[in-house]
Amino acid sequence: MNKAKAPVAVLDSGIGGISVLKELIKLMPNEKFIYFGDFVNAPYGTKTMEQVRDITVKNTKMLMDMGAKALVVACNTATGAAVRALREMYPDFPLVGIEPAVKPAMHDRPHPTVLIMATPLTLKQEKFEALLKRVATEDATIIRLPCPGLMEIIDAGHVEGEKMDAYLKDLFKDIPKDTVDAVVLGCTHYPHAREAIVKALGKNVTVYDGGYGTAKEAKRRIEAAGLSASETQVGSVTFLNGEKYPEKIKLAERFLYDA
Ligand code: DGL
Repeated sequence: MNKAKAPVAVLDSGIGGISVLKELIKLMPNEKFIYFGDFVNAPYGTKTMEQVRDITVKNTKMLMDMGAKALVVACNTATGAAVRALREMYPDFPLVGIEPAVKPAMHDRPHPTVLIMATPLTLKQEKFEALLKRVATEDATIIRLPCPGLMEIIDAGHVEGEKMDAYLKDLFKDIPKDTVDAVVLGCTHYPHAREAIVKALGKNVTVYDGGYGTAKEAKRRIEAAGLSASETQVGSVTFLNGEKYPEKIKLAERFLYDA
């Protein structure tokens, strides 16, 4: 079989990865994508590193067994916990992860105050501290804000409205909002609630997420491996666990196809 015709797998704990899938489709419209939201094991962000690593290794094997030609780990938490192990296990398999878009947030303006929103596990990981060390400018003020419970609200479809507003009001209560210049959405779920987050901060902030950068890197890796779909192939998206979770898939489709 011509491997270039095989699907590209996209993995997340829920419907967060749809924010990355959107960018992937824009850059690679001819690819067939299979999307796996791991609703059974969600949320990842309040589990341990070992738990998330083991779950992600198992899910990767499953997607490879299904014939995926490449994998995008569209989850910051799973990337931090498992991508290094996966690269060691499968050195020749094109595999791309996502990490919080801290770099552009630090470098777009001098003396920035940057609020980084992510899951508790992402902010605890060594990989995250190493990223900060690598890219943080000396004059930046960094505020790390773990957001336990936020992915659950988004996965339930409440990206705006009372539930979301009440959660964010409480989350931001001790944040010096007036001084924040930039917000990094370090979990792929959060871009779905971008408008509510900006509204809750109550001022003009620049918002960064890693979706586009990850999609660009995935395209580069797939091309470099000689695995790009032909321009005549018709692109598509297949949701893997649609029978068990019809409501979640409906929501995923809404996030993917509505403007
Ligand atoms: N969407 C995931 C991320 O990017 C995590 C959500 C969760 O399962 O806690 O980190």
